[in-house]
Amino acid sequence: MLHRNLGPFDTTAIGHGEMPLTIENNRGHDVGIETLHASLDAGCRHIDTAWAYYTPGEEEQTGEKLVREALDTWHGPKDEVLVATKIGLRRAWDGDKPVWPRDGKPEHLIRYGKESAMALGVDTIDLLYMHRHDPEVPYNESIEAIKQLVDEGVAQYAGVSNVTIEQLDIARGILGDKLIAVQNQYSPVHLDTQDTLDYCAKLGLAFVCWSPLGGYRHPYDEHKFDPFREVAAKHGVSYQQVVLAWELAKGDHMFVIPGAHRPETILDSLKAGELELDEEDFAKLG
Ligand SMILES: NC(=O)c1ccc[n+]([C@@H]2O[C@H](COP(=O)([O-])OP(=O)(O)OC[C@H]3O[C@@H](n4cnc5c(N)ncnc54)[C@H](OP(=O)(O)O)[C@@H]3O)[C@@H](O)[C@H]2O)c1
Repeated sequence: MLHRNLGPFDTTAIGHGEMPLTIENNRGHDVGIETLHASLDAGCRHIDTAWAYYTPGEEEQTGEKLVREALDTWHGPKDEVLVATKIGLRRAWDGDKPVWPRDGKPEHLIRYGKESAMALGVDTIDLLYMHRHDPEVPYNESIEAIKQLVDEGVAQYAGVSNVTIEQLDIARGILGDKLIAVQNQYSPVHLDTQDTLDYCAKLGLAFVCWSPLGGYRHPYDEHKFDPFREVAAKHGVSYQQVVLAWELAKGDHMFVIPGAHRPETILDSLKAGELELDEEDFAKLG
């Protein structure tokens, strides 16, 4: 399994995005535990979750609780596993559409951070992200709350997610070397965050790609995956492995957190760290 340094953490370049296991259309609690155990058994040492990974209208924080239960019932080396979570979003229904209302009020973030630690069953969260900017709250005020959580020991390190370069600079100014990661969307169908990916390389910050396989929000242009399918046929692997290997090749600061609804898909994705793409492949993939 390919390992890299995410800030001070030695962890796997391919993490496990927990979200599909507990938001709408999940396959239930037991499959969730089975899927997390499968990736941990295969050597995955980074799990990504969030306060808001639950089905709207149902029990809150079920993603964090599932991660806690999976680790509690797993017999492997739990202290090797980096668990990252995020605060600043909630879930709700807008008619029949599930949505993600933002809540970046400092006093609420302090409460969410403490609730995340409790749901995860830890005194200190390894890595806590500000999930997304709440336009009703100046970004620096939300980030000051994240800093307070770090200062109080609720979180060891901080990250920011869904940020522009300008927001990242605000966070750097407040969090200093406690800021270790940026989690932005990046994949062959979402390349508009290339600027933050390059900026992270320059700053020495980890860039964690969310929805690295395109995610669940369709439609997007499926043809963008055609070159990846061609390269996959040559290597005899899934095109998803080629996508993840291509993303990881963007730099040593790159991390991917593919999601899965079942063990089979995450186990396949975790093999991408061993896939070696050659020059001909990169010429095709860009
Ligand atoms: N920071 C943020 O705002 C934010 C937003 C969204 C997501 N995220 C994070 O990013 C993670 C990943 O995003 P995501 O789950 O939306 O999307 P994704 O990883 O791009 O795609 C997940 C989908 O791809 C399929 N898949 C995964 N590996 C596969 C393989 N090897 N072969 C075939 N199919 C495969 C899964 O299929 P099956 O359904 O068949 O298992 C799943 O439906 C989330 O879990 C979450 O942790 C963060």
